[in-house]
Amino acid sequence: MLSWDEFDKDEGEEAAKGTTATQAAAAGIDKLDNAGGVAALEARAVTADDSEAVKRAKAALDKLDIAEGLAELEGSAARVAVDEKRMINCRADLNQLVPFKYDWAWQKYLDGCANHWMPQEVNMTADIALWKNPEGLTDDERRIVMRNLGFFSTADSLVANNLALAVYRLITNPECRQYILRQAFEEAIHTHAYQYCIESLGMDEGEIFNMYHEIPSVAKKAAWGLSYTRAISDPEFNTGTVETDKELLRNLIAYYCVLEGIFFYCGFTQILSMGRRNKMTGVAEQFQYILRDESMHLNFGIDVINQIKIENPHLWDAEMKEEASQMILQGTQLEIEYARDTMPRGVLGMNAAMMEDYLKFIANRRLSQIGLKEEYPGTTNPFPWMSEIMDLKKEKNFFETRVIEYQTGGALSWD
Ligand SMILES: [Fe+2]
Ligand SMILES: [Fe+2]
Repeated sequence: MLSWDEFDKDEGEEAAKGTTATQAAAAGIDKLDNAGGVAALEARAVTADDSEAVKRAKAALDKLDIAEGLAELEGSAARVAVDEKRMINCRADLNQLVPFKYDWAWQKYLDGCANHWMPQEVNMTADIALWKNPEGLTDDERRIVMRNLGFFSTADSLVANNLALAVYRLITNPECRQYILRQAFEEAIHTHAYQYCIESLGMDEGEIFNMYHEIPSVAKKAAWGLSYTRAISDPEFNTGTVETDKELLRNLIAYYCVLEGIFFYCGFTQILSMGRRNKMTGVAEQFQYILRDESMHLNFGIDVINQIKIENPHLWDAEMKEEASQMILQGTQLEIEYARDTMPRGVLGMNAAMMEDYLKFIANRRLSQIGLKEEYPGTTNPFPWMSEIMDLKKEKNFFETRVIEYQTGGALSWD
């Protein structure tokens, strides 16, 4: 009679004899079919106490073909060795999380979890009073709040859908998938945060959530991002050729470097600038937590892109570099247009020209982060306080630091 103990022992002995991994796996499945032997059969025998439903469940298990079930799994059935792991087109079993190849991906997953937060924890009382007071904010300030809630309320859904419906399947590495699942949940929290702001302030939900169809500067950014999802979200799409691998790379650059790396920055700066002036502090606190999450998403995406380049140098040819650079420049241009639309005049100590400088500064960083030449030489950062907020090290008196409650030993700190 077979038992799980014997199963483990037999498998160990076979490996010691030098049986190939595939043969061992086939033999293993064979044994799984018979695992438990007489004891299992006895346990499954129909008894007088069994209801009709229990009888049907037992009968269904009698027909279960374990080999067929396991054949559905992604990757081979052998134990995974680190050097088999690859960011794309990996053939090793994707359900075996360890051994890690990309420790940085696992670390980012841990950091993300250690910085968990929820929108309802932020006090919105002062924002509600200010928003409802006709004298509370200028028209230009109201426009900034409305436009940004309009853009972000759907943008994070675009990112989440791209991750869950397209990218997740194509990134063939379990520790990166683990981070992507965390990121997808964080995107859900971000959409929740915008919904929570919109509801708290009593805004017209239809107007805000449909803004990406109605306001050209918002619609263009959404349309630009979506154009890079189309091909790879097709269920028939698969990587494995130079052209399809490049298509995935284009999507990662579009979403991580441009959407999350450029399209969010005008809005983040405007709302955080408002908070620095003690206006809409609840909305600003939500945006601060979101910005911190986003800067981790961006860094993860940059690492994934660079790892794909290392493992597949043939994809990163002159044509692809030129295309990537153009994508970042197009994204920067769209964000500059968004800055002009949201700030027709100077407001909150900033104006569209300063924002343009800031976006060019950001674009230079995105270009160099994936190994491309900076296209706006000599640009400086007019908003150094933004980097400080992202680094999470300063301005600790600006917002209440309730996120600290989620910290575990050795994780990120506000100090
Ligand atoms: Fe997000
Ligand atoms: Fe994100």
